[in-house]
Amino acid sequence: MEGRATLSLAALRNVVNYTDTSVVTIERYIIEQERRFPDATGDLSGILYDLALASKIIANKVRLAGLVDILGGHGTENVQGEAQQKLDVIANDIIVKAMDHGGRLCTMASEEQEGLIPIPEQFRRGKYVLLFDPLDGSSNIDVNVPVGTIFSVLRKVTEGEEGQMADALQPGMKQVAAGYVNYGSSTMLVYTTGRGVHGFTLDPSIGEFLLSHPNMRIPEQGRYLSVNDAYEQHWEENVRALMRRYRGLDGQRKAMNVRYVGSLVADFHRNLLGGGLFAYPANTKSPNGKLRLLYECNPLAFIAEQAGGAAIDGQQRILDIQPTSLHQRTPYFVGSKADVEIASEMLAKG
Ligand code: AHG
Ligand code: MN
Ligand code: MN
Repeated sequence: MEGRATLSLAALRNVVNYTDTSVVTIERYIIEQERRFPDATGDLSGILYDLALASKIIANKVRLAGLVDILGGHGTENVQGEAQQKLDVIANDIIVKAMDHGGRLCTMASEEQEGLIPIPEQFRRGKYVLLFDPLDGSSNIDVNVPVGTIFSVLRKVTEGEEGQMADALQPGMKQVAAGYVNYGSSTMLVYTTGRGVHGFTLDPSIGEFLLSHPNMRIPEQGRYLSVNDAYEQHWEENVRALMRRYRGLDGQRKAMNVRYVGSLVADFHRNLLGGGLFAYPANTKSPNGKLRLLYECNPLAFIAEQAGGAAIDGQQRILDIQPTSLHQRTPYFVGSKADVEIASEMLAKG
């Protein structure tokens, strides 16, 4: 018995040395950050913990996704007697339920819901707004490719208790926090509150996010180009010329390696670590590209800038765009500063 206990403790130490107090959980990190601001009420910290909890629940669902067909098929009831739902609707509901009762938010908006998501009557209203993409890259779920969650937090700007459209429709530079969760070979949560970018890896054996990537910085110039070039036939000539530049075909720079997962979070995360550029340009069929300004582009642009990178729509900085509707789309170029600079020069309207 004694031998077995010693063995499992040793095995645990092998993974992470939990007797070492330098192991930093996300909770401890957020509290330590908050203490630097004597006026902080703790509301923003509370939002970040609740999001971390929601993402752990989503991570569990994502991990079981491949078993849906044997544990209960689509259109049938699962073991708990619930009807099978699409995972992006499930992820949406998990986030709404984790966030609606904390008294910190006045409204929410999600890629999965048409209008603003009000806070139920019985709960207190708070001074923040949450915008989110509950499951990014969800079409990849069926083939076991990484997916993500993206979130953006704004401060309420209108009068009164209830959150209004104008609270959600603020330019990205007004974000007070933003982040994403990458459900990959491990689950990682990366966030910023405007003081650098910090990454946490979920240790599933203890159910905690642990600080694994403090102060993340994106390389000045990147190795990777992420773009779906099946759209090349619909690109304008300046976009084609830009992509030829990145591929080294015009002799102006070394060719980048092409990597395209098709989950923005996974593509962005790889490029944040290795350097590079993710592009979803306008094309003649989709003049505003595909990606959503509020749920996808703004939060990742905030993170990119905080890590030393940049994000533009081709003409202007993403974070300066004044949104006019919740689900609006924008062309998007995000990543290493020098690579985004090339897009800015080559796409500038002359
Ligand atoms: P979502 O699953 O939230 O709708 O987002 C899918 C997005 C994004 O994750 C990805 O970069 C892009 O769609 C891929 O689009 P294409 O298939 O047109 O390349
Ligand atoms: Mn998405
Ligand atoms: Mn989505």
